[in-house]
Amino acid sequence: MRLDRLLANMGLGSRREVRKMIAGGAVSVNGATERDPGFEVDPDSDSVVCGGRPVRYKKFVYLMMNKPKGVLSCGDGAPGVPECADLVGDDFGFYELSPAGRLDVDSEGLLILTNDGDFIHGIISPNKKVGKVYYIKTDGELGPGDVEAFRNGIKVDEDFTAKSAELKILSRGGGVSEALVTLKEGKYHQVKRMVKACGKTVTYLKRIAVGGVILDERLRPGEYRELTPEEIEKLRKCAGETGKL
Ligand code: URA
Repeated sequence: MRLDRLLANMGLGSRREVRKMIAGGAVSVNGATERDPGFEVDPDSDSVVCGGRPVRYKKFVYLMMNKPKGVLSCGDGAPGVPECADLVGDDFGFYELSPAGRLDVDSEGLLILTNDGDFIHGIISPNKKVGKVYYIKTDGELGPGDVEAFRNGIKVDEDFTAKSAELKILSRGGGVSEALVTLKEGKYHQVKRMVKACGKTVTYLKRIAVGGVILDERLRPGEYRELTPEEIEKLRKCAGETGKL
């Protein structure tokens, strides 16, 4: 990997900033000052020091993104529609990131992106029962009967009966509702289909939490940040409690 890319990926500055640092002699590779930004380093075995501090390459990265509407959570949908990985800048663009659980193109909210396949499996595997919380608005008023139906498990169609889920109504009136839905599985369009089976329509859907990790409200749509070590641990524990991660 190029030296400037490694430093930029590790968050030490933009490409331009790290090139300046390299040209200024602030960076050494295996003990020798290196002024060529294109110098090839092996991040696993070479010792890189920047401004006196060792640079440790991260094998895995874990991002929390606030997915905006109109963007695919991964790239196997309609050609020409942007995907969330395209929104990731130079800082993590080097990593091949995939989402841990999808959101529909018209849905928003918490999307975890990582290059750690085991971590993704732990979050999305139906056996692990990691809870996902969705804030929804509906056309048609949700009521106590719907809460009960969600709790009992809804027969969505001939092929799919959803497991017991929690529906918490936040407000209702004037023919519309706001509610929180907590699912421990993640089938295609699951929330929308469950609500539809109750005779109402989801008009807005935002995922606000996964496995106890809450979407950082400072992130505007399309923005992302690294998960904290505590958040990563929380997710690992949550998946680990119900299976192997
Ligand atoms: N359920 C849905 O219907 N859509 C989503 O994007 C996520 C859950």
